[in-house]
Amino acid sequence: MSAALLGREPEHTLAWWRDAVVYQVYVRSFGDANGDGIGDLAGVRERLPYLAALGVDALWFNPWYPSPLADAGYDITDYRSIDPVIGTLSEAERLIAEARELGMRTIVDIVPNHVSSQHPWFRDALASPPGSAARERFWFRPGAGAMGELPPNGWQSIFGGSAWSRAGDGEWYLHLFAPEQPDLNWEHPDVWAEHEGILRFWFERGVAGVRIDSAALLVKDPRLSEERPDAEPGDHPFVDRDQLHEIYRRWRAIADGCDEPRVLIGEVWLPDADRFARYLRPDELHTAFNFDFLACPWEPGPMRASIQSALSAHAPVDAPATWVLSNHDVTRPVTRYGRADTSFAFESKRVGTPTDLNRGRRRARAAALLAMALPGSMYIYQGEELGLPEVEDIPPDRRQDPMWLRSGGVDPGRDGCRVPLPWSGDKPPYGFSPNEQAELWLEQPTDWSPLSVAAQSADPGSMLSLYRTGLHVRREAPWGSGAELRWLPYGEQVIAFARGDRFACIVNFGREPVELPRDAMPLVASSELRGSSLPQDTTVWLYLSTNRATFEPEPNRTDNHNENDRGEGR
Ligand code: GLC
Ligand code: CA
Repeated sequence: MSAALLGREPEHTLAWWRDAVVYQVYVRSFGDANGDGIGDLAGVRERLPYLAALGVDALWFNPWYPSPLADAGYDITDYRSIDPVIGTLSEAERLIAEARELGMRTIVDIVPNHVSSQHPWFRDALASPPGSAARERFWFRPGAGAMGELPPNGWQSIFGGSAWSRAGDGEWYLHLFAPEQPDLNWEHPDVWAEHEGILRFWFERGVAGVRIDSAALLVKDPRLSEERPDAEPGDHPFVDRDQLHEIYRRWRAIADGCDEPRVLIGEVWLPDADRFARYLRPDELHTAFNFDFLACPWEPGPMRASIQSALSAHAPVDAPATWVLSNHDVTRPVTRYGRADTSFAFESKRVGTPTDLNRGRRRARAAALLAMALPGSMYIYQGEELGLPEVEDIPPDRRQDPMWLRSGGVDPGRDGCRVPLPWSGDKPPYGFSPNEQAELWLEQPTDWSPLSVAAQSADPGSMLSLYRTGLHVRREAPWGSGAELRWLPYGEQVIAFARGDRFACIVNFGREPVELPRDAMPLVASSELRGSSLPQDTTVWLYLSTNRATFEPEPNRTDNHNENDRGEGR
């Protein structure tokens, strides 16, 4: 029977996620409606038209649940309600419905690896004696050393320091992140049942999918074996263990059992593209973030290789790749690409690198058009479309991130990419809050007036205008349906590919301008073209107006492309 007869949406809308543009909303910094200086759900609802006009297909909300905020909401006390500081459950339901009316689906963040230390389960565990059932939902262990005074093993927290903290009675508990985020024991049936219930709860409230936090960390080696540098893939004591796939198969069955199938999106940080792709087998996750591309330096070789390896790893499992340039955990692209050394996405590694924001902005524009042209789905982190730089001078006493706190101030942490958005006006809070006197949870810089939504909307050359134009052209799919990528031979300093017969994307990283093929019409360019040539750090989308022409480089001009090409193949 056909889909229409079953009263379901046709296949192509059911698979909306395969090429969706997903906008990441970090609620506390998006928009404040009640004037307390903290972004809230009402602030998002007021600004939904902005998001619809930007041209995105879905909104992913960072954790919006009640939380003591030891890790900006990734420490949850109740997975089935909304943090009262930002709104209520019924408001969230209205938000989900209103967004859907404007054509945008909603994705919520699920955190299955750990709970808040204030979560009822963990409070119960702490109040219960060693060996009790309440402790079995977590990883409680006696310590090492004569008096149990040492952690049970050498595992390190991702936020620094030992991954173990001691409870009052001397037992130790595991936390791969902050001590306020005790890890759940996925060997325990309660943990499975609880999370399956949470999924159903949000699916019943109309969310179209979930983003699964730290998706490759849930399962631990019960023997607590030490990390070994020479371990085979799958043999790490807490990363990418094979039993994880059973969990996601169960979740997939739940997602597929809904009236309209729901989407599972994994936060999976794995260097090995093939191990990564195993999460995307047809009965597991739909998509996962491709962090390799995000972490790539601004260099054509590594970027081309990263794109190719993502596409090759996804093809056998028939999953779409995802393209991500930023999120709430990494340095803003404008800053990252403006550094003398562009290879570090993470704050901890950047201390002391000189930065040229103009160059960074130009490259971030080029990167955005590149990402938008690639086959698959794309994620945009709020403020990326405004070209916000990383805020690097947050005073120490205002910093919130446990990475900063736990490294004793050595690692500046992630607050710099989480600063509230500027919407209008010439001074803080730039329309973020209706209360001009509001003290924001993170202060905005005083020079952000030209970066506000209002200022950029009026300027066709702004980052916001580029994102709007790019996303609108992308929606028209100038490459035709599902067209695969075909590399074009433009030399080492260039990333060039065609999709379909009529569309090509060319990025020039090199100093020498690149001659664009005749008969091809530029659709969008990230910076101004120089006549028919493409300057450095610029991306152009081309459309063939006649079917006689091709996108191959002009034969009589290839020699001028750039110095590095000449050595090719020798
Ligand atoms: C993920 C989140 C990050 C959080 C961590 C622990 O990596 O993106 O923000 O700190 O998980 O939940
Ligand atoms: Ca508020």
